[in-house]
Amino acid sequence: MPVVPLPWPPAADAASAPPGGADIHALPLPPVPSTLLIPLAARAHGGRYFPQLDCGDAQAAQLLQQLGTDVSPYLADRPTLLNVLWRTRRIRAAAQAFFTVHPQSWGVNLGCGLSQYRQWLEPATHWLDADLPAVMALRRRLLPAAGPQQHSASIDLQAPGWWPALQLPPEALAQPLFVLCEGVLMYLTPAQVRQVLQEFADHAPPGSRLVLDAIAHCGVGQAGWHASVGRTGAQFHWGIGCLGELTRMHPRLHLHSSYSVAECYGWLGLWLEALWRPWIGAPLYTLAVLEVI
Ligand SMILES: C[S@@+](CC[C@H](N)C(=O)[O-])C[C@H]1O[C@@H](n2cnc3c(N)ncnc32)[C@H](O)[C@@H]1O
Repeated sequence: MPVVPLPWPPAADAASAPPGGADIHALPLPPVPSTLLIPLAARAHGGRYFPQLDCGDAQAAQLLQQLGTDVSPYLADRPTLLNVLWRTRRIRAAAQAFFTVHPQSWGVNLGCGLSQYRQWLEPATHWLDADLPAVMALRRRLLPAAGPQQHSASIDLQAPGWWPALQLPPEALAQPLFVLCEGVLMYLTPAQVRQVLQEFADHAPPGSRLVLDAIAHCGVGQAGWHASVGRTGAQFHWGIGCLGELTRMHPRLHLHSSYSVAECYGWLGLWLEALWRPWIGAPLYTLAVLEVI
């Protein structure tokens, strides 16, 4: 996928942009970055359909309003809304548990899109949001840094050397990091995912955690069938056949915990997963927490 770093808003359009927002049709994002609207829409409005999983995102709805985009097609994709709300809840709990033990640690969100995890953490938590330059330009415009604990970086996870581009200060590296990479890796190639995990494991201090999500290998190449991702033109290039594939990428990586999306669907989901697991190896969609030793 060619990723073209585009400034936002384009200089010529800045003056004519509607006050307080922009027309989504003018949003100059390639297919993969444009997928950021899918979880944003779920966090903004998914609670209407799944109130028990409502994440109470304070800003997502306002961001969508500022973008002036119609996300109703994404809201019609109820399984994806459920999936995003479920994973948000799991990630939020994992982050809160981590920062309870490591209150001075930093959080890093790789491929952050327009998500805002810091809203659910102690205000003193240092948090760094990182994404492709075009997304970070959009983010800076819509979400100006709220205080000295909020940091940002433009990176390209497809290019080796993305870790130094985070420019983490020595105090951040003096303790374990909480790193999140949500809804991102399935769009990279297997070689690129391996490089991302290896670069993380080479540099992260001991005790650091990486929360990532992965689709099953059978989903690779099938994004066109996905009710939401299919609309964006993005494609799934990486999936797993078993959870061990994640930790085999680097000797410092250990599996701390993992969760299957089947748990959203109660006993029926878990029963169906047990039936098909011998054939596909991994859950259809997994949230995994890796720890660096
Ligand atoms: C589905 S969105 C997820 C956004 C966010 N993590 C969330 O859950 O709301 C995918 C994100 O991955 C980012 N991304 C894709 N390829 C990337 C790359 N090579 N380097 C950095 N970010 C990337 C996109 O720009 C986009 O923001």
